[in-house]
Amino acid sequence: MRLILPHLLTPQELAHAQTLLATATWADGRPGAGSQAVQVKNNEQLPHDDPVAMQLRPVVLAALHRHPLVLSAALPRRIFPPRFNRYSGNTNHYGQHVDGAVRMLPDTAQAMRTDISCTLFLSDPARYDGGELVMNEPAGEQRVKLPAGSLVLYPGTTVHQVTPVTRGERIACFFWIESLVRSTEQRRLLYEMDMALLALRQRHGDSDETVALTGTYHNLLRLWAET
Ligand code: NI
Repeated sequence: MRLILPHLLTPQELAHAQTLLATATWADGRPGAGSQAVQVKNNEQLPHDDPVAMQLRPVVLAALHRHPLVLSAALPRRIFPPRFNRYSGNTNHYGQHVDGAVRMLPDTAQAMRTDISCTLFLSDPARYDGGELVMNEPAGEQRVKLPAGSLVLYPGTTVHQVTPVTRGERIACFFWIESLVRSTEQRRLLYEMDMALLALRQRHGDSDETVALTGTYHNLLRLWAET
């Protein structure tokens, strides 16, 4: 399931991020990529311990935690500390690849599963050409290029690429979510049920039936969640 969340960041948070990122010192994006991905990866990233990255990471995490749809759709167990990348000039694309299934959490000896891949667009799309996130989905190729401050979440199993940026620069934040529910299909069912329940409650208020269905939602989650 692919989900787009417009305006994850407030205009103030976005302006703050853009101002800080304009002063950042970018590094080669290849270290850390897997053996297939590294052959097609050609971008820049901020190192994990970069001061700008460290300042912006909590802003992104707070925005994720306050967004009800992130919680409902992703059911996060762990979130990889958000990273930042830039596509511009001669380092302007990332060819077809799948993100590594398991990543080591920085500063810990813990591994996490990358159930959901996330890109938070941070550059105004009118100020660069190219730089589309292209996902190979069963229904065909999906091209995503979002307004600054908007987030896309998609299954970590998806083959995807970032097309060459031919004008300007594309700065984004990227990270992964390990979900309480490993299966995309099960997560989708829970999300659809949660959204339908929300709409039912808004339309009719609570009833014995919505309480019973809410119980079913939680009992399915109990059945499927890995904590
Ligand atoms: Ni990727």
